Amino acid sequence: MATRLASILCLALGLRQVLGATYSQTSSISGSQFLSAFTWQAITDPTHGRVRYVDQASALNQNLTFVSGDHFVIQPDFTNTLDPNGAGRDSNRIQSNQAYETAVMIFNIRHMPQGCGTWPAVWTVGADWPNNGEVDILEGVNDQGSNTATLHTSSGCSMPASRSMTGTALQNNCNVAVNSNAGCGVRLSDTRSYGPTFNANGGGWYAMERRNTGIKVWFWSRNDGSVPAEVKNGATSINTSNWGTPAAFFPDDSCDISSHFGPNNIVIDLTFCGDFAGNSAIYAQSGCPSTCVDFVNNNPSAFRNAYFDFQWLKIYQ
Ligand SMILES: *[C@@H]1O[C@H](CO)[C@@H](O)[C@H](O)[C@H]1NC(C)=O
Ligand SMILES: *[C@@H]1O[C@H](CO)[C@@H](O)[C@H](O)[C@H]1NC(C)=O
Repeated sequence: MATRLASILCLALGLRQVLGATYSQTSSISGSQFLSAFTWQAITDPTHGRVRYVDQASALNQNLTFVSGDHFVIQPDFTNTLDPNGAGRDSNRIQSNQAYETAVMIFNIRHMPQGCGTWPAVWTVGADWPNNGEVDILEGVNDQGSNTATLHTSSGCSMPASRSMTGTALQNNCNVAVNSNAGCGVRLSDTRSYGPTFNANGGGWYAMERRNTGIKVWFWSRNDGSVPAEVKNGATSINTSNWGTPAAFFPDDSCDISSHFGPNNIVIDLTFCGDFAGNSAIYAQSGCPSTCVDFVNNNPSAFRNAYFDFQWLKIYQ
């Protein structure tokens, strides 16, 4: 009923919205299952961060990856001071072995990285970037503000100024070649969606639905009474029509989703500084001390809370 009323209101206001769909659970990943569902990418950070990504064996050995029951924890090195001429801070970048097109993914997250110099992200990306698209579900830097959900695409994909979502559009052209690869970001209205405030409230659920009619992102904080029971419980079947207005909505009006997005893998990573967190203007605005790289090199204990703790990830197709 509430959904129906919302639809009628949106139609009356002329806002672009698309009804949801039903899906069945095809994958349920928790605890040690993350170790076989994802590959640790010991690569040079393409975003130029002050980081050294390690492989899975090193991550487990150094306790940068830790599994216990339904806790899957990935955390950076928070004990070593770095040689300014040496490698960056050890951290995890993991990529799902499975790639997805039309799908819903729900992430039940207890804790996310926080702190000056951090740039954590939960996102999806295809081969031959940007031609198969990128969807940033959870991303931010230096504990600044609420979450931003963003698409990055090749040319010819933009978003209507007016659409049915609770967040605020930052820019509407998704093409990576314009606006210095800012993409078409949407800033969430819920301050509990990111960083220290997300953690203080026990985290919550992020969901992303990708269909050829559009891409939607929802967030519910842990004690948010409006979280659908099927999301909270990770039910075996879901109907996204009943989930309410998304936090971010990227419809297909001026973006052919099927040609701008190919198979995408899920990536979860934590880098430091780099092109975004370390941008001198952005770092200066954050109120963080010294320079980003110096801070990351010299303050290992500042990264004790820069960990992700996932309870589960469920995929629906
Ligand atoms: C590994 O990290 C986990 C999560 O932070 C922690 O609970 C555990 O005590 C650590 N283990 C060791 C041996 O330090
Ligand atoms: C999904 O929910 C919508 C809105 O409540 C409803 O109209 C539709 O019938 C539901 N679909 C299924 C398959 O239950």
